[in-house]
Amino acid sequence: MENDLSASPEDKVLILGISGSNRKAGTEYCVKRALRAAEESIPGTTTRYLSLKGKKISFCIHCDRCIKERCLCTVKDDFQEIQDAFLEADGYIIGTPVYNMNCTPLLQAFFSRLRPLFLVHPGIVANRVGGAIAVGGTRHGGQESAILAIRNFYLTFEILVTGGPSDNYGGAAVWSRDRAEEGVIEDAIGMEKVVGLGRRIAEVAWILKKGKEGLSNQVYRNAHR
Ligand SMILES: Cc1cc2nc3c(=O)[nH]c(=O)nc-3n(C[C@H](O)[C@H](O)[C@H](O)COP(=O)(O)O)c2cc1C
Repeated sequence: MENDLSASPEDKVLILGISGSNRKAGTEYCVKRALRAAEESIPGTTTRYLSLKGKKISFCIHCDRCIKERCLCTVKDDFQEIQDAFLEADGYIIGTPVYNMNCTPLLQAFFSRLRPLFLVHPGIVANRVGGAIAVGGTRHGGQESAILAIRNFYLTFEILVTGGPSDNYGGAAVWSRDRAEEGVIEDAIGMEKVVGLGRRIAEVAWILKKGKEGLSNQVYRNAHR
């Protein structure tokens, strides 16, 4: 994709890809493919990939300690390292396998633990961009509702959402036929959506970065809060 959005060589945007799969399989392949498309589309776009596979992330138990003590989640497990990466990024590509027409419990656990971000630090990740990938074993097995779960997470955090090019609609829906990486590679249409999403995330991340730089800090802060 041709563009001249990245004006100076030291300019960078960072796109974080997260796979919510419990396996190194189809979802991992798709998230990495989208990141590669993002990187290749606009010079200066950097990426980082994180998998939740094997991570110990317990779900939020609604203790409200974060609210009482005005702090981020204090429960110690593998959550913190993912949260740190999440805070650093300019844009997100989150992928999930479809489990019971939804995203995985592992990914939901991660989302739930981020609650203090918007309660204690409202707007901390606002005006970044996010996109979603869902990989189902069946052609119409709930990819759209799993994508919606991820989109709703972004909206909760004031992260701006793109589905990709217009014919992606809500995001990238992929059909693995329950054959992991091999299955998603065979889904040519699904992979086209994945690549389109990656490119579009890079494009919007750059637009947002340049837009924020274009506004003085004061104007941006006033507009936001
Ligand atoms: C607990 C569980 C529930 C699942 N539910 C669905 C479902 O609702 N719809 C669907 O299309 N596939 C469903 N699948 C199949 C997976 O979505 C599919 O195999 C997917 O490719 C797995 O992603 P992965 O390759 O990244 O592990 C389910 C799999 C598991 C283990």
